[in-house]
Amino acid sequence: SRIALLGVPIEIGAAQAGPLMGPDALRTAGIARLLEQLGFQVDDHGNLAIPAVVNDGPVPANTKFYDEVKTWTRALSERAYWLAQSGAIPIFMGGDHSLSMGSINGVARYWQEQGRPLFALWVDAHTDYNTPATTITGNMHGMSAAFLCGEPGLDDLLGGLPRASIPPSQLDVIGARSIDPLERKLLRQRNVSIADMRQIDEFGVAVLTRRVIERVRAKNGVLHVSFDVDFLDPAVAPGVGTTVPGGATYREAHLIMELLHDSGLVRSLDIVELNPFLDERGRTARVAVELIGSLFGLQITDRQTPSNAVL
Ligand code: ARG
Ligand code: MN
Ligand code: MN
Ligand code: MN
Repeated sequence: SRIALLGVPIEIGAAQAGPLMGPDALRTAGIARLLEQLGFQVDDHGNLAIPAVVNDGPVPANTKFYDEVKTWTRALSERAYWLAQSGAIPIFMGGDHSLSMGSINGVARYWQEQGRPLFALWVDAHTDYNTPATTITGNMHGMSAAFLCGEPGLDDLLGGLPRASIPPSQLDVIGARSIDPLERKLLRQRNVSIADMRQIDEFGVAVLTRRVIERVRAKNGVLHVSFDVDFLDPAVAPGVGTTVPGGATYREAHLIMELLHDSGLVRSLDIVELNPFLDERGRTARVAVELIGSLFGLQITDRQTPSNAVL
């Protein structure tokens, strides 16, 4: 099968410069080569470029660089829809997490047409469920999950493009350890399922990941994985602008990816927030590529563990 790589060098949604270089760091770390070794036909579509920034409407309060993010979102949504339609598995290489407003909207539109519900797994130290009414920073990478779930406040972001939203019941967050007060309230109102770090400590990632997989399977859905590199502990992944202590270990992250691979449900991926300017000798980029390898079938032995294994 085919994988389509698309670089999305947007960094204006984040507070710190650097994520612009993310796509090229992932290329340098060998993303295409690894996926080809795993048997995929890989097409690198280069980096998305935006024409001049559009300012054709009102700018909501408490949003930084709204028109820039809007322009990126519209361009990427169209491109994501088209890539999904091509039958390839798109990998959106960020770039900051605001890109998911476009990538997931585009793939959601495609799956809606196919009559298959799209679920999103948000692998992240944050929940990115702020709206202009709840945000403290105004940074739009903290708003992408909320936008995706149809929360109000960013309503003309897509202009005339269809806004394919997913219901909050089809969003799962794993790894959360930093949520703003009003954001937390909204998440609770919407009943979004969040596996935070405490749950990871108590139950382990395997149980929590299988719960997500079962939920998708029960609805004959497909899964989009939105992987924010700050999910990982800063000791494993220093190349991120928004590090939060107490993150996932290298093995926990791989196990999630391995289980997701075995599920056969993943049809698209964002890999976001990698900041090569803050990285140490390419470590974080390399870890990200290794994790993508596990998501696409890289295994230690050639036999997977059945989910009901008696070890
Ligand atoms: N909650 C904070 C904010 O709204 C941090 C968001 C960080 N998001 C991210 N994609 N790294 O600004
Ligand atoms: Mn090739
Ligand atoms: Mn994020
Ligand atoms: Mn994050």
